[in-house]
Amino acid sequence: MRAADCLPLPAGATAADGASCFVNPLTALGMVETMRAEGHKAIVHTAAASNLGQMLVKICLKDGVPLVNVVRKPDQVALLRDLGAKHVVDTSASAFFEDLTNALVATNATIAFDAIGGGKLGSQILTAMEIAANKNATSYSRYGSTTFKQLYIYGGLDVSPTELARSFGFSWAVGGFLLTPMSAYLKRATGDKYLIDPNKGL
Ligand SMILES: NC(=O)c1ccc[n+]([C@@H]2O[C@H](COP(=O)([O-])OP(=O)(O)OC[C@H]3O[C@@H](n4cnc5c(N)ncnc54)[C@H](OP(=O)(O)O)[C@@H]3O)[C@@H](O)[C@H]2O)c1
Repeated sequence: MRAADCLPLPAGATAADGASCFVNPLTALGMVETMRAEGHKAIVHTAAASNLGQMLVKICLKDGVPLVNVVRKPDQVALLRDLGAKHVVDTSASAFFEDLTNALVATNATIAFDAIGGGKLGSQILTAMEIAANKNATSYSRYGSTTFKQLYIYGGLDVSPTELARSFGFSWAVGGFLLTPMSAYLKRATGDKYLIDPNKGL
């Protein structure tokens, strides 16, 4: 094997430790780095009780980054609250959209990482971001707020079509997000602050 394809593990680490130390942790770190590189101050994350989501909760707590966690069951709310998460909203709750909007008003999150992909959730997040942005507007514009909102789809837990009901103005983007191209992008965007050099490995 090429040395660049190898990752030395600490003595005593098991194969399972090695297998779990790479993709999810670096993707979670990359989300926070992307938030910073693109000028956002807080993050929305879906399917947030996932393995990756639990890592993101810990990283954001450590780095002081406000995080809005979107889950789909009450026991997932409890799991993340036990980790110290402040904002956890449950899509199965009747007040979900109001809870989401309130969390966005509280955090000013304008970037979302969506593991679900299909359905209406990404669109609801952009809409709630737009409502939160307009809370402080001093005038009305038919084109919506000037606050830029970014939705990154990074998983396909729901493989149905992504439905965008464009009720969030014109200052937004939807994109894909994948560990390896994201690492190369961060290298370009942040110079020596990148996480991975795609040519040299870690
Ligand atoms: N783009 C990248 O570079 C990258 C890198 C790493 C991971 N990922 C993606 O990140 C996601 C999380 O990975 P993981 O290993 O942390 O997963 P995981 O631990 O298996 O967790 C998956 C979570 O998603 C929830 N879920 C599944 N289907 C759902 C749906 N249709 N709607 C809402 N929630 C749903 C599950 O909750 P329930 O218990 O309710 O089913 C669970 O909490 C995956 O989609 C994976 O493909 C992407």
